[in-house]
Amino acid sequence: MKPPHLHPLGDFKPADQWQTHVNAIFYGTKGPAIHAHFQTYVSRDYRLAHALAEEFFQQITTDAKHAPDDLHIHEWGVGNGNLAARFLDHLQEIDSENRVYPRVRYLLCDYSAEILNGVRANPALQKHEGHFDTQLVNAECLEGFTPRSVTKIIANEIWDDLATRVLLSSQGNLFEEYLQPMLPEIISDRPFEQFLEEFNEKNLEALITAPDFLDQIVWERSFQRVDLGDWPFRDIIGDHMKQVSEDIPIPINTGAFLTIQQAQNLLVPESQGYTGFDYGMRSMAHVNREGRPYFKIYGGQYTAMVNFPLMAEVGRTVGFDSVHSEPQHEYVGRHLGDQVISLVELVHGHRDAPRMEPWDMDLLMLKTLNVLNTTYHNPYPHKMDYPVMPGTPKKHRKLIAQEAKKLSATGVPDTVAYVAKGEVLAVAAPLKKLGYREEDLQTAFDPPDQPITFSHLRFS
Ligand SMILES: C[S@@+](CC[C@H](N)C(=O)[O-])C[C@H]1O[C@@H](n2cnc3c(N)ncnc32)[C@H](O)[C@@H]1O
Repeated sequence: MKPPHLHPLGDFKPADQWQTHVNAIFYGTKGPAIHAHFQTYVSRDYRLAHALAEEFFQQITTDAKHAPDDLHIHEWGVGNGNLAARFLDHLQEIDSENRVYPRVRYLLCDYSAEILNGVRANPALQKHEGHFDTQLVNAECLEGFTPRSVTKIIANEIWDDLATRVLLSSQGNLFEEYLQPMLPEIISDRPFEQFLEEFNEKNLEALITAPDFLDQIVWERSFQRVDLGDWPFRDIIGDHMKQVSEDIPIPINTGAFLTIQQAQNLLVPESQGYTGFDYGMRSMAHVNREGRPYFKIYGGQYTAMVNFPLMAEVGRTVGFDSVHSEPQHEYVGRHLGDQVISLVELVHGHRDAPRMEPWDMDLLMLKTLNVLNTTYHNPYPHKMDYPVMPGTPKKHRKLIAQEAKKLSATGVPDTVAYVAKGEVLAVAAPLKKLGYREEDLQTAFDPPDQPITFSHLRFS
């Protein structure tokens, strides 16, 4: 069949411009339904939030001699609000003498009104009434906040959404990536000209009623000669580009740089810093790894890999004394006192996983969950919803539904939730019956070096 004819939705523009354009439409029209497209490490799970709460409690009670009476915490880019809820739950729990929790004001900041509506409706946050608030604001240009007024800033998976330009060094010259979005005309339920206007004006009210189109966009790419003349941070970007291998696309997370600069301005002098978690290249060796991805598209949301070494350099340049970087799993594991991985990593470590059909993977995931749930205890009971994927054969549909029915409300909360090595080894025998060999389990916790990993960065 002939592929449908594609129409440009606009001109070629530097990658960051179209990336932020489609992301604003994605978050502005989907709201909390974004989690139908992806889960994050904090959208259902609680372990990363608990680690942050423990660290904050420790810093305020033992390290911060001059912490102000009111402790203002900001979270930038908040999704469904689960991170805030679990952070506050745990902080309240460990603060047995009421020294910290009563002083906390947690502000959930997001640029999507739809997202913030979802946050305010999140029942897990209601019990913290008076300790949290929401603010509609763009993290790339935070206006209206008082400088030197915030004790701690937290961000999970926002940097990859923010403006990111892409540079490539070739034969002594620099080139910048330009993008052009294309769609078939038939995608629209309205005259194409009208749709084009709504798309270009980011008319969220109109686009919310349009059929799903973001995940059908075909991106045309081209690289054009560029000089860094008017780029912010051009000196450190220029130095960085001297260290990169030729012909490898390098993400330059300019939007995230702006957040670092603003964090520096907003944090109180003896603050607990700006802490972010995201995925990308942790070292220059990873930046220079040939063939590694530099962007990823989830259900239409356009994300860029985070260039952590360059982020750290920007942090030092804007005046942070220390920039701490480590793998995210290590950060969570340290607080839990054990090695951790996400459940999906465990399942992908099964020897048959690379050859499995998607419905067999679903069955393996569910059976693994049911084994782990015999010992795992989730302090926030919630029964996981595990719908059968379209295209699943009839026989598998029945088996998947049977296994899904057995899921426990106090079991592992999510397919990307963190599981500890001790929890996994405690059920090694039943896992073996599912085909997990001892060495699969060991390797899952000590995986080979990957160019793209989840990392923790703290500017203080
Ligand atoms: C990938 S989601 C992550 C949500 C949540 N932190 C989590 O990890 O589950 C990105 C979030 O950042 C928000 N966001 C994206 N760009 C933003 C911007 N420029 N300013 C403020 N919020 C933004 C989105 O609306 C969304 O809530």
